[in-house]
Amino acid sequence: MGIEETLKALEEIGFGEVYITEGAVGRKKVEVKDKKRLLEEHFASFKDCVKCPLHRSRSQVVFSDGSPESPVVFVGEAPGEEEDAQGKPFVGRAGRYLNQKISEVMGMKREEVYITNVCKCRPPENRKPTPQEIRACFPYLRKEIEIVKPKVICCLGSTAGEGILGKTMSVTKVRGKVFPYPYDPKIKVFLTYHPAYILRNPKAEGEFVEDLKKLKELIG
Ligand code: URA
Repeated sequence: MGIEETLKALEEIGFGEVYITEGAVGRKKVEVKDKKRLLEEHFASFKDCVKCPLHRSRSQVVFSDGSPESPVVFVGEAPGEEEDAQGKPFVGRAGRYLNQKISEVMGMKREEVYITNVCKCRPPENRKPTPQEIRACFPYLRKEIEIVKPKVICCLGSTAGEGILGKTMSVTKVRGKVFPYPYDPKIKVFLTYHPAYILRNPKAEGEFVEDLKKLKELIG
């Protein structure tokens, strides 16, 4: 039985999500698991990561939060102090503001969306992660996106945009625009401000709200 026939047959008997492990196609081996389980396994595989210098100052690796069934993946920069302590992304002031806007503007709860970061470890003094740190961590994010398969990736700020699109950019110029995700062009990449930027520059809140409305339209 060919791979297409196998997938069709699995679908007919009720498998909504079918994952094929890397390299498995050639060996005609199909693995069927649910997204939550795959994410747990993925996280377990790098919770002791020492690929970049950030492992020396972190308390713990901070993975993702929210629903793996979400049509949107929000990607931030890196954990801050509270995230590093609690082991969850966006639980500090910027996170509370993001939750509020997701609810007010998009009519969604935090638990209904998927939230993660480009870098999974807190940089000392909350500095911006270096391009090397972003590159070292990117395979982890790429795998998360492969599992969640959202309609849209919403990059919060330029660091997230750089991580996802692989090039530097000015958020002010590209915010509100849509790009194809380089590793799966069916997924849209959307960019807006980082919520911490809005807290520092409240005049930009109107644009942030406008972007979240557009994001809501994109996810349908
Ligand atoms: N800022 C981020 O980019 N990510 C977090 O998890 C918290 C603050």
